[in-house]
Amino acid sequence: MRSEETIRLLKLLTEADSPSGREGGAASVIKREAEKLGYDVRSDAMGNIIAHKPGEGAKLMLDAHMDEIGIIASFADENGFIRFGAVGGLCTRDLAGRRVRFGNGTIGVIGSEEEEFNKKPRISKLYIDIGAKDRAAAEKAVKTGDTAVFDGGFYSNGDIVISKALDDRAGCCILLRAMETAAKSENDLYFVFSTQEEVGLRGAKTAAFSIMPDYAIAVDVTDTGDTPSCRPMDVKLGGGAAVKIMDSSVMCDVRVIAALTDIAEREGVRYQREIMTDGGTDTGAIALTGAGVRAGAVSLPLRYMHSPSEMASIGDIEECIKLTAAACMAEWRKI
Ligand code: CO
Ligand code: ZN
Repeated sequence: MRSEETIRLLKLLTEADSPSGREGGAASVIKREAEKLGYDVRSDAMGNIIAHKPGEGAKLMLDAHMDEIGIIASFADENGFIRFGAVGGLCTRDLAGRRVRFGNGTIGVIGSEEEEFNKKPRISKLYIDIGAKDRAAAEKAVKTGDTAVFDGGFYSNGDIVISKALDDRAGCCILLRAMETAAKSENDLYFVFSTQEEVGLRGAKTAAFSIMPDYAIAVDVTDTGDTPSCRPMDVKLGGGAAVKIMDSSVMCDVRVIAALTDIAEREGVRYQREIMTDGGTDTGAIALTGAGVRAGAVSLPLRYMHSPSEMASIGDIEECIKLTAAACMAEWRKI
């Protein structure tokens, strides 16, 4: 496996700023990379990017979301501090002191007026300080409805990568790398890079409706149970790809779970079994599309999810690429 190519793509993908509903940055990188691989690429009304490789075999939908967690400016107060709402599942406990970057490049620091430091601040008690002297100056730089993402530079060292937006640009990277191998598959493959996952699994829902696949596999991140501050969970960073059994959005299809674990055993992919009690994935929306879709997921273990410093293992990413590519190549019973 060429890890340099994985790292090149991860850096390129995570450096694009694409909060939910404003995925243009990541979309253009993905479109260019998919076209380089010789795929036919289209986009739809929701902004999903869909690459299709026709084939005689079963119709498979592979999905990873392009959007990332962010904030949306709701108003500037009279002192020039910007008040905001959450775009996706922000953890307000850890926000104070963090930097955010708006689409026009304006950087601000998040402050908190909550007085008790161990209390989770209400979002109404947080503000963004861009150094504006009053409301008029703030409104010049940032308008109501402008979105921003975390400023969290890409860093890789040995097996570890740290960046914002690994959720789920790492999944986008895994799909793009798997697409290199999958170009030779007999299956009818649809690679969907979806929008608005973080605000309610929205893009994947309409993409799945337009495709109505026989099977679907979402590739997204999952929590780990291996840090002092985490909830107990049977997934470790460095433990390989995770095959999802359930999360709060889905009970994965038992045939898809069995197919993925069989493929992993056969191909010698290191894998772990995943149950994520907190949080959903596109898998859930796809499963409930039309008359229903047999859906499962390949998950990447990720520490500090939804923070500017998400951490993943390159080795795990490579195992996810192997598993996803092998799933694209495998024979699936047509429905
Ligand atoms: Co997420
Ligand atoms: Zn995600």
